[in-house]
This record gives sequence, structure tokens and C-alpha cells, in this order.
Amino acid sequence: MTGIGTTLVVGATGTTGSRTTARLVAAGHHVKAAGRRAAPVPGAEPVRFDWHDPATHDAALEGVDRVYLVPPVGDMDPAAVMLPFLRRARATGVRRAVLLSSSAIPEGGPAVGAVHRELPGLFDQWAVLRPSWFMQNFTGDHAHAVGIRQDGTILTATGSGRVAFVDADDIAAVALHALTDDRAPDSDLVLTGPESLTHDEVAANLTRAGGRPVVHHALTPAQSRARLASLVPPDFAAMLADMDHAIAQGAEDRTTDTVERVTGRPPHGFREVVAREWGRS
Ligand SMILES: NC(=O)c1ccc[n+]([C@@H]2O[C@H](COP(=O)([O-])OP(=O)(O)OC[C@H]3O[C@@H](n4cnc5c(N)ncnc54)[C@H](OP(=O)(O)O)[C@@H]3O)[C@@H](O)[C@H]2O)c1
Repeated sequence: MTGIGTTLVVGATGTTGSRTTARLVAAGHHVKAAGRRAAPVPGAEPVRFDWHDPATHDAALEGVDRVYLVPPVGDMDPAAVMLPFLRRARATGVRRAVLLSSSAIPEGGPAVGAVHRELPGLFDQWAVLRPSWFMQNFTGDHAHAVGIRQDGTILTATGSGRVAFVDADDIAAVALHALTDDRAPDSDLVLTGPESLTHDEVAANLTRAGGRPVVHHALTPAQSRARLASLVPPDFAAMLADMDHAIAQGAEDRTTDTVERVTGRPPHGFREVVAREWGRS
């Protein structure tokens, strides 16, 4: 690994940022844990940072040589705020940038896809993590997890399409390597779990694990779009609804060997992760 540096983790209280921060701290790295609330994160230095408030950017970048980037949530044009920040980061001494994107968004695609396209031109050392859907969507604070707790339902327009759900801990394990290995990946990395599952199979797994019924209710694309629009801005909701439709068409029915290739061990399976996450709460 490269010498101990300082990593700015944007989104350090979130699903991937908190786990990435924990791994960096455990490996002896100094972490500035950034978010709008500057909430305390064990072992890290909290720093107030808002993508939409450039006045917070310079202090966050002070002393930083690498960054982990969770884009502004629900923003269809994150490049507008991220690219000026990244140019500033390069000018202040950041050498490596690891960007969180999605398996569903290729280089040059919508939203964060525009930031992905620019990243190699901005940093010699870079990676774009493109995880599949998170297993933690069913166990944390995501709308699916809330629905499961409230009335035992999962609502999607994915039909019988399969998704190779991935453990957020596995994303963080890859992020640690991407941030600290002597050689950066300098590529995008599509991250999946070990198997692809339908949402009916997810519901059956959760029913077995929790001892009470969980059911997947299929929505039409229009219903899915309306439901998502109650959670995020309408244009972002439309993009998420399109992703559900793509899943129904089979777009996410594939696994990759990236987690094992980067970390040296296979990715965690769905049942194992649900037992671990529900055991935590
Ligand atoms: N869920 C999935 O299945 C899935 C799959 C693939 C990719 N993704 C991608 O994952 C990303 C979400 O990452 P995550 O799950 O690790 O995060 P998350 O759990 O959604 O948490 C968001 C984090 O970002 C911070 N944040 C929010 N708005 C901010 C702003 N304006 N400026 C600075 N920080 C801000 C939050 O802290 P504060 O509230 O304190 O600011 C929090 O730490 C999205 O871009 C999504 O596209 C998700």
C-alpha cells in the first residue's frame, strides 16, 4: 500500500462511505469524514461539506491526497457541482479519486456518468466503482427496508428480472484497495454479489430469515415512477424507474469476479449479509 495519506470521504455517514471510512481507519489511514452534518464517525475527523455549498470545499480538501466520492443524492446533473470541486481538488494536491457510480450507469451515461467520463482526464490515479443494487436496501433505511418493516412488502417494476445484489461491505473492501493500493485501478469496476436473484426470491429469503412474510408486489412502470417521485425529484425518479424496467428486461442478470479479483476473497451472499445486518440492529 502507498504511504499513509489523508483521504476525504464524501458521504462518510452513508451506506458505502461509513464502511469505507471504517476500513481506512482500521488500516491506519487518516480520514476526513465529510457530509452536510459533519456527524462524528469513529476514528475519523468530521468535516462539514456540502456539494452545493462551495464555501465548504477548501477546508475539506486541506491536507488531502485522495478522495472517495458519493455524488449528491437525487441530482440529475451532479457534474455541475462535482467537476469544479474535482478541478480544485487536483489543484490542492489530490492525486487519486475513487467515484461511486452504478452498474446501471456507463461512462458518459446519465447523472454521474458525465463525471465518470471526465475523471481519467482529471486524475492520473482513479477508479469508478459501479456496484449493482445494494443488499442493504432491504435491511437499512432504504424505502425497501422501510416497506418490509412496515407491512412486509417490496414494491418494484422489475417483474421476474434478476439482480446480482452486492454487499455494501464488499463495495467498501474494494474501495479500500482502490484508494490505497500502490497502483490505482485506473478503470471502472462493476461490482456484484455471487448470484443474481429476482425480487420474489429476495422476498422468500427475507421471509425465511425474519420468520414473518415478506412479499414482492409487481408495479407497472407508471406506478413505479409515481411511487419513486414521492421519494426523489421527478427526473431522478424517472431514471430509477427506467432502471427497474431495464432489470425486468434482464440488464442486471450477470455476476462479475471483481470483488474476488480485487480483495482475494469471494463476495458475500445474500443470506449471510441479511443475517449479519439484521443481527446488528
Ligand atoms: N442503493 C443502491 O442499491 C445503489 C446501487 C448502486 C449505486 N448506488 C449509488 O450509491 C449512492 C449513494 O451512496 P451511499 O448509499 O453510500 O450513500 P447514502 O447512504 O445514500 O448516504 C448519503 C451520504 O452522502 C451525504 N450527503 C448527502 N447529500 C450531500 C451533499 N449535498 N453534500 C455532501 N454530502 C451529502 C450524507 O450525509 P449528510 O446527510 O450528513 O450530508 C450521507 O453520508 C448514490 O449515488 C446511488 O446512485 C446505490
